[in-house]
Amino acid sequence: MTALRLKGIEACVFDAYGTLFDISSVAEGAESALGDKAKPVLDLWRAKQLQYTWLRGLAGHHADFWQVTGEALSFALASFDLDRAELKVQLMAAYMSIQAYPEVAETLRQLKDDGMRLVILSNGSPAMLTAAVTNARLKPFFDKILSVEEVGIFKPHPLVYALPEKHLGVAAGRCCFISSNSWDAFSAKAYGYRVMWCNRFNQLPECLPTMPDGVMSSLATLPGVVLPR
Ligand code: LAC
Repeated sequence: MTALRLKGIEACVFDAYGTLFDISSVAEGAESALGDKAKPVLDLWRAKQLQYTWLRGLAGHHADFWQVTGEALSFALASFDLDRAELKVQLMAAYMSIQAYPEVAETLRQLKDDGMRLVILSNGSPAMLTAAVTNARLKPFFDKILSVEEVGIFKPHPLVYALPEKHLGVAAGRCCFISSNSWDAFSAKAYGYRVMWCNRFNQLPECLPTMPDGVMSSLATLPGVVLPR
């Protein structure tokens, strides 16, 4: 099988949560409080967090990702009879120091060393993204850290996907968009990006009108796909 190559890529645009950052890491330190409910709480927290972004977008009731994340956590904890203030404070604080996946720093280094421009495009608020990127020591790799707060609506609104073009002056068709969130990858493709879906958990493809250009199981594959040889 020939390895996939995307030619003419000038910038890589990364989703943050789930793609660069391991959402499951926020439960570290809360194992005793969560017990065997850790995974279902985290799964429901994430599902509600995303659902609320879409609902707020459609209803025209934007609030930043910090607020939405907190509201989703309240729902998830209450669903499992765990709605305790100190646990909520602990889990929200962990979001600020969320861990990067192990291959992220080396992948970014390879891309950066080859002159690729690197950008984050995320639902996260500027404060959340700055904290996460700084904590994971990834800040020097990025040319821009773009938050949906600049346009006041969450993904997958096209105003969000337009931000990298505006800030870099590079057309979406010359950018590779990378997300582990399938709905984000498929939506970015619909906008006009070349897209690599980082399918970390072997999920089924979405039944949506557009398909990503390629699929990889971790970001380690990316330099071979987008760097010229
Ligand atoms: C983000 C969410 C989608 O970082 O994970 O934008």
